[in-house]
Amino acid sequence: MPQANPDACLQDTRLYALMSAEIEEKLRRALPLFTDHFPHITGTAQQGLTYQPEENTLWTTSFFPGMAYLAYDRTGDEAFLAHAEDYLASFRHRLTHRLHISHDLGFLYTLSSVALYKLTGNEDAKALAQQAADMLAERYNEKGRFIQAWGEVGVGDPYVKIIVDTMLNLPLLFWSANPRHHEMAVAHANTCADYLVRADYSSFHTYLMDPATGKAVEGRTHQGFHDDTTWARGQAWVVYGFALAYAYTKEPRFLEVAQKSAAVFLQNLPADHVPYWDFTFTDAVPDVRDTSAASIFTCGLLELEKWSTPALAESYQHAVWQMVRSLYDHYFLHDPDRLCVLTDGIYHRNTGSTGTIWGDYFFYETLVRLQKSWNLFW
Ligand code: GLY
Repeated sequence: MPQANPDACLQDTRLYALMSAEIEEKLRRALPLFTDHFPHITGTAQQGLTYQPEENTLWTTSFFPGMAYLAYDRTGDEAFLAHAEDYLASFRHRLTHRLHISHDLGFLYTLSSVALYKLTGNEDAKALAQQAADMLAERYNEKGRFIQAWGEVGVGDPYVKIIVDTMLNLPLLFWSANPRHHEMAVAHANTCADYLVRADYSSFHTYLMDPATGKAVEGRTHQGFHDDTTWARGQAWVVYGFALAYAYTKEPRFLEVAQKSAAVFLQNLPADHVPYWDFTFTDAVPDVRDTSAASIFTCGLLELEKWSTPALAESYQHAVWQMVRSLYDHYFLHDPDRLCVLTDGIYHRNTGSTGTIWGDYFFYETLVRLQKSWNLFW
């Protein structure tokens, strides 16, 4: 294993620095292009793997500011903060006018605002993130002890949904240091463990919930292959989300869910260590991959490593090393003029194989975590 040999370890550290520098060059060139409009997914390889600036309406708009803040954190270069006020203005407008509000407030305001506050002490960013946390708390269903993912709060058709992705929205509630928010986040994580995580630690993407009684009804998928299969990115949200929930609460159940779900993810990796988009697919029955699931998962393993036994931590480090090497060797776009870092991500199966800004963000977060003791943005 690379960690056992100091020379190999040094080589890996140099390699991670080189990979990071390649990403930072892409970011330097992209900074002026995305100031109040943001990247989401690229076109396919045939269409050129280029991000277009999109309005601030999607769940993904904070990942580009998040990458700029990771770059500032790694390099100390203030050029990466040049558009911080533009990003804040855009995210303030979205929140003030309640535009496109869902459970994704966590993704949106953790990376656009909490990260900036943690790095620079910007009080406006802190206040905006607190408002976003309050708005996220409005989505809590007391009877069912869950945060509603999408749609008008309490209005079902006839049911509302909880989804595994919400696990990455909980850190905003933990960060806000409001005891009521903390309780809601813990309750939601337990509900997620009760229903979205199956007995074998694979996962449903979504679960139908009765908004009036709070009763759990049935597991369903939204972006996976089938209701009963495991969507790779969903499993990655489970692993990283429960690892973070454990970091904030030290609740043993959350660590157990994260570790056992990580084992399922590792068991379903194909020979090149980058998962197919749903665990139904294998090297014997292949389909397209999801590099974004891989990079979310490597962040999850690096968080889990902190809380695991030395033997388990070493196995996680080795898995991360194999995955990062494969992502860099086979799926890294070496073109400084194109922001896209990883090819072969997937949003919905029907959008095809593309770059994804969240896959790029989490790959870069993985590299930063590998090079320094990283103060969580989450
Ligand atoms: N949170 C949406 C997704 O993972 O596609």
